[in-house]
Amino acid sequence: MRHFINLKDIPSNDLRRIIIDAKKRKKRRKKLNTLEMDNGSPLKGKMLIQMFEKASSRTKISFYLAIKQLGGGTLTLRSNELHLGQGGETIADTAKILSTYGDGFMLRTDDDKKIQEFKRYLSIPLINGLSPSSHPTQVLSDIFTVEEIKKRPISKLNICWIGDSNNVLDSLIAASVKFSFRLNIGCPKKFSPSKKIKEWVNKNKKKIYIYHDIKKAASGADVIFSDKVISLNDKVNKKRKKQQFQKFKIKQNIFNYTKKNCIFLHCLPRGDEVDEDVFLGKNSHVWQQASNRVHVQKSILLYCFGKLR
Ligand code: NVA
Repeated sequence: MRHFINLKDIPSNDLRRIIIDAKKRKKRRKKLNTLEMDNGSPLKGKMLIQMFEKASSRTKISFYLAIKQLGGGTLTLRSNELHLGQGGETIADTAKILSTYGDGFMLRTDDDKKIQEFKRYLSIPLINGLSPSSHPTQVLSDIFTVEEIKKRPISKLNICWIGDSNNVLDSLIAASVKFSFRLNIGCPKKFSPSKKIKEWVNKNKKKIYIYHDIKKAASGADVIFSDKVISLNDKVNKKRKKQQFQKFKIKQNIFNYTKKNCIFLHCLPRGDEVDEDVFLGKNSHVWQQASNRVHVQKSILLYCFGKLR
């Protein structure tokens, strides 16, 4: 049994094995939007319990399809339907119950401490489906998408992030260390990556490149990533934060500074950080990026359940 909580804590080899498996699975899978099972139904009889304390579209649906296509089932809960630390039931109690009824638990939460507490008390694998500090399933799937489109290992590419220093960026930074790729970050100074993640990068003897100028950050990029400036439940002055990011809005002319075939990726939902003509334009691969979540989620599930070939 293995958890999938933060890319920082997962060995590079394991992350690579998950991507290789997803590639094989995608090749064999004819139709994605059906519950028809993959050959061998490797997770037959397994039950994934999913719980969302925040909104979710892609993570929820892609995990649903993934476990079903592997032969298992899923139950989706909202936290307000559970006792969860209230009414005489501690997280330890809930974790014990979940471990009795289910085979795996996927949690999307606003509180990293909750992830740690569940990890402590669960005896089934825990998957982080987004927390304030990381969004590991999204970013691993994004690495898969980049390599699929570019047909090269990500270590040979220049990756650029334009936007807020949030959970998705923290996972992308972790991925840059695990997969050894160059990562340029373009953001206002006030919204630079945290000291904690920068120290972790240093400790691993790697580097990230932070620019407070969008053109410098995008220079020579093979891939530009972005995400909403205001994340779900971001408790800030939204108007002011958007203003502070004005110079970091992604417009079509940014591609004058990148490599010629630079692609644009975005995990959705989107806001003002990107122009509509970029998001829907020729450089954008956001729909392919979203659909790949299903393939990679399957290999993550197999990894957690100890069934990755
Ligand atoms: N940074 C965003 C990602 C949404 C998938 C958020 O946390 O809301």
